[in-house]
Amino acid sequence: MAQGMTSNEIRQKFLDFFAGKNHKIVASAPIVIKDDPTLMFTNAGMNQFKDFFLGNRKPDNPRIADTQKCLRVSGKHNDLEEVGADTYHHTMFEMLGNWSIGDYFKAEAISWSWELLTSVYKLPKDRLYVTVFEGDPKENLPPSQIALKEWSKLVPQEHIVFGNKKDNFWEMGDTGPCGPCSEIHFDNRPDAERAATPGHLLVNKDHPQVIEIWNNVFIQFNRKADGSLEQLPAMHVDTGMGFERLVRVIQGKNSNYDTDVFTGTIAEVERITGKKYNFGDTRSDVAFRVLADHIRAISFTIADGQMPSNNGAGYVIRRILRRAVRYYYTYLDYRQPLLCQLVESLGRQFEFVFPELYLQKNFVEKVIREEEKSFLKTLEGGLRRIEDIHVKDGVIDGSDVFELYDTYGFPVDLTRLIAEERGWKVDEEGFTKALNQQKERSRADAKRETGDWVTVTEKTGTELPVTTIS
Ligand code: SER
Repeated sequence: MAQGMTSNEIRQKFLDFFAGKNHKIVASAPIVIKDDPTLMFTNAGMNQFKDFFLGNRKPDNPRIADTQKCLRVSGKHNDLEEVGADTYHHTMFEMLGNWSIGDYFKAEAISWSWELLTSVYKLPKDRLYVTVFEGDPKENLPPSQIALKEWSKLVPQEHIVFGNKKDNFWEMGDTGPCGPCSEIHFDNRPDAERAATPGHLLVNKDHPQVIEIWNNVFIQFNRKADGSLEQLPAMHVDTGMGFERLVRVIQGKNSNYDTDVFTGTIAEVERITGKKYNFGDTRSDVAFRVLADHIRAISFTIADGQMPSNNGAGYVIRRILRRAVRYYYTYLDYRQPLLCQLVESLGRQFEFVFPELYLQKNFVEKVIREEEKSFLKTLEGGLRRIEDIHVKDGVIDGSDVFELYDTYGFPVDLTRLIAEERGWKVDEEGFTKALNQQKERSRADAKRETGDWVTVTEKTGTELPVTTIS
């Protein structure tokens, strides 16, 4: 394996490889999406090419490659609750991708992905497994015979796994371009474990050491709002490789956080807090990983123009930021704004990949610092109030939980977490009742309004302070 490669070299090799196959290398689109009502954030490299796939626009070169900043915390592809607890899910991640817009198809895509992984990155072939779509009669979709034929030329049968629609039919969202896919998985387990349980049994089974690294999608359809599949005028290739996972397998690590994509930030957090990251599963280890992950999502979305706020995309960022604050506050005993101190080094790390962060680092830092300050105040106020609450028979009354939430802006999940730590229970029923009563009150108030304002749409459920913290 090409273990000595840095993450920057690994990224560059990908781009060079596809440039060598006549792909135009383009810049990442912003991580925040402003012109597509079906998505808040870029969740895949192909988003910026959606109109090419649908046939609405034509690219100047039908072969494209890039590394794309993606965020998966809301909507169809939602990973937030897993982030930090495990070693391979992220909020923001880089997706290396190559695309064919009505040009090459399955044969080239499959053989090039194999060539890059095994000849350039020199990943051991016996640790690689591939998946093939088994078809879906309900959707009238046949099994992927061509993908099977192409993979059969390259890998032994026991390394080919058939997958159903959930794993092997990729869709951008509820609507939009989609098609069958073929994933490539890497088995990173020690030899003895591999001998005892063959890797193909663990593909797509959430094993932390048998992980998907690359998805080759063959876009052929448009999913319409009524749920039907419409055949597209041309067939396309859309591939996406999880950069952080790729770096991990090439660098021979057991965790994405042990690669040079994250170790710099982790070292910064160690320096600032005076705590040590111990590569384990203690709450403080999780906190290190949460910070190393979340600071990227927060910084790059702000650099791309999305301010934290109380609804929509801004609320998602605020939620991620608050999750990070809660982790350092509680598990690293750090009581000052910390995230803002990580922006400078992160910006420098990505200066030549996504220069927008380094160029705006002072602004991004300031926005984050203000957010942290205000949430730290909320946390402190709420935590002080909790100390005064009268807990009867080990249960916090629903009205107290509601007061914390409504008056102090204290997230309910946080109250639950603190209750759990102290061996208390939360009176969920009482809380829901108080919450519903408040909703009734505001509805009644709204009806009483006699001014010029008319409510066009009701607000959705993303209002603060309903915050999820795990
Ligand atoms: N769109 C596919 C994915 O996100 C491949 O790029 O997995």
